[in-house]
Amino acid sequence: MKNSVPTDISEKLKRLRSRIKSADYAYYVKDSPIMSDAEYDELMQQLINLETLYPNLIIADSPTQRVGGEPKEGFAKVAHNPPLYSLSDIFDDNEIAKFDNRLKKLTGMNDITYSVEPKFDGLTAAVRYEKGVLVQASTRGDGFVGEDITVNVRTIRSVPLLLEGDAPDLLEVQGEIILSKKSFIKINRERRMEGLEPFANPRNAAAGSIRQLDPKITAKRRLLFFAYSIRAIDQMPESQNEILLLLRKFGFYVSDLNSIALGIEDLIEKKNLIFKARYSLEYEIDGVVIKVNDLKLQNLLGYTAKNPRWAVAFKFPAIEKSTKILNIEASVGRTGIITPVAILKEVNMGGVIIRRASLHTWREVKNKDIKIGDWVFIRRAGDVIPEITKVITERRDGSQKDIVPPEYCPVCHDKLIEDQAYLKCINQDCPKKISESIIHYVSRGGANIDGLGDEIIIKLLNSGIITDEADLYELDVERLKKLPGIKEKLATNIVNNIQKSRRIPLDKFLYAIGIDSVGTQTAKILESEFSLEELSAASKEELERIDQIGEKTADDIYRFFHNERTKKKIERLLAAGVEPVRSVKKQKKLCVFTGTLSLSRSEAAELAEKNGWRIAKSLSSKVDFLVAGKNPGSKLAKAKKLGISIIDEAEFFRLLDEKQSQDLQTGLVGLPV
Ligand code: IVH
Repeated sequence: MKNSVPTDISEKLKRLRSRIKSADYAYYVKDSPIMSDAEYDELMQQLINLETLYPNLIIADSPTQRVGGEPKEGFAKVAHNPPLYSLSDIFDDNEIAKFDNRLKKLTGMNDITYSVEPKFDGLTAAVRYEKGVLVQASTRGDGFVGEDITVNVRTIRSVPLLLEGDAPDLLEVQGEIILSKKSFIKINRERRMEGLEPFANPRNAAAGSIRQLDPKITAKRRLLFFAYSIRAIDQMPESQNEILLLLRKFGFYVSDLNSIALGIEDLIEKKNLIFKARYSLEYEIDGVVIKVNDLKLQNLLGYTAKNPRWAVAFKFPAIEKSTKILNIEASVGRTGIITPVAILKEVNMGGVIIRRASLHTWREVKNKDIKIGDWVFIRRAGDVIPEITKVITERRDGSQKDIVPPEYCPVCHDKLIEDQAYLKCINQDCPKKISESIIHYVSRGGANIDGLGDEIIIKLLNSGIITDEADLYELDVERLKKLPGIKEKLATNIVNNIQKSRRIPLDKFLYAIGIDSVGTQTAKILESEFSLEELSAASKEELERIDQIGEKTADDIYRFFHNERTKKKIERLLAAGVEPVRSVKKQKKLCVFTGTLSLSRSEAAELAEKNGWRIAKSLSSKVDFLVAGKNPGSKLAKAKKLGISIIDEAEFFRLLDEKQSQDLQTGLVGLPV
């Protein structure tokens, strides 16, 4: 039978699998998706369809082989041999020096080479391969006996189901299962919507996800696995550094932050480099692991009852601390949504003084049973405002007061309304909404007016010098200088920057004017599809036709351009000399597909996009041509009626740029080497 499989099918399967793998890496590690979720799902569906047609071409490491099995009754026990040791913790540079001195004494060496690695904040797993095939994965448990989590680990895309390259007969890898900050936020958002208690941190969320009896739930959680040790292999390499390289060759994700250090100074420097990268990573790390690089030396040093002598964990200062809620303030945002903000007893977290924490919604205050005067745990993830993770109810002394959501806007005193999960001020003249809108207008993603900080904007509004964004363009140095604390130089700077911001890229303008649901990404999509005039005249249907624009966004955009007040805002800005410019390169040819092509829709679309075309879902007079495959539907007749050029698949390929399609077919962009 094998011979009856056309070679192009094997090629196609290979390409699909490779593109799914690249998309995983771009999504999970680089945080810059190379395709939309819908496109990803479509690729996966095609792969499933093809594999159903040609089951003898299914390979063990096909992405389709990960999608969860049947729910289980419980977890079987797995014995660890050797045990899974933990590391002793150290907290400052002196302790690093002590560790280095101790090892120098024990080994009699002058300088020791170390492997310096991020300490992932997740849960350890040991993953076993026999003849290159994943056979078992287990949790750490108490170090001696863990739990069998094989079916769940199979759903983690960064765990190879089949090793790449020359596989040893036996391999056991240790690594950390973690959850990206982004997935953590998403899971918690969903849990809040369902009225469930959010997870306190990504580690708990990862642990909760891996210990699911139903692996389909694990599969949805988008976990990551970073490998860092080899516990067993036919032929052990000579150093930790070689282990990391080998793991990468086998197809594991291995951190880019790993490095080698020689001697104490270099060691501290490399540790600091990882510390600095901490907040810019997509996932949480809670320290740096320092390991003797030479495995012979590791063996010589051996283990104490609990820990290896050849490694330590340098722990970063905690990002979770306890403090007291002094008060709850109601904060009014640009869109009128009133959010509760906790005013905290000052606390130092990793060198940053924290005084406030966000609470998202009043419903959350109620669910978490937070009261004024409560002691709480707060945690800071990245440079975002900290979150309250838990109330320490044990510390209540009876003085705590209930939090009552406000009925009136704290700024304009208008009655608030309930809008889904939110409380909202709908007074268009609310001064806070106006100041927040102007602050948003001048922000980096918008008009990007440097020097015009929040305080100056508020002073300008309070003194009546400006009433809206358009007034900014009338400002001159003399008037600015009248404000307390503003000198000639700053005033001149601000005025120059305001003048420079008149010519503004259309996408930045669309972001700046504050259309609900339109962030920087959506603004870019809109810019590539419409001019400002076209957008303001677009119907909801025309907006929804754009890929990635959903019903709600289309509705928000439509309402914005049909509201007297917001229409006037745009008119005033344009009259003040603001000139939104659309980049020329965006005016690409627009095409639509119909019928069956020899490659999938999403593949065709991607090829076309790489070639500089834009794709629309349905026909309109703006469409430049229709690519008609076999059995075209009603679109063909409609295109004829609209006078749109119709091309067949052969013509489509002829038009495609050859080099770009070749690059695409390798599908390896962004994969680790
Ligand atoms: S090495 C025998 N390397 O931290 C040494 N551990 O307290 C095995 N961890 O149990 C561990 N990142 O769960 C090692 N790059 C890394 C790590 C790491 C995170 C975890 C692991 C270990 C714990 C040690």
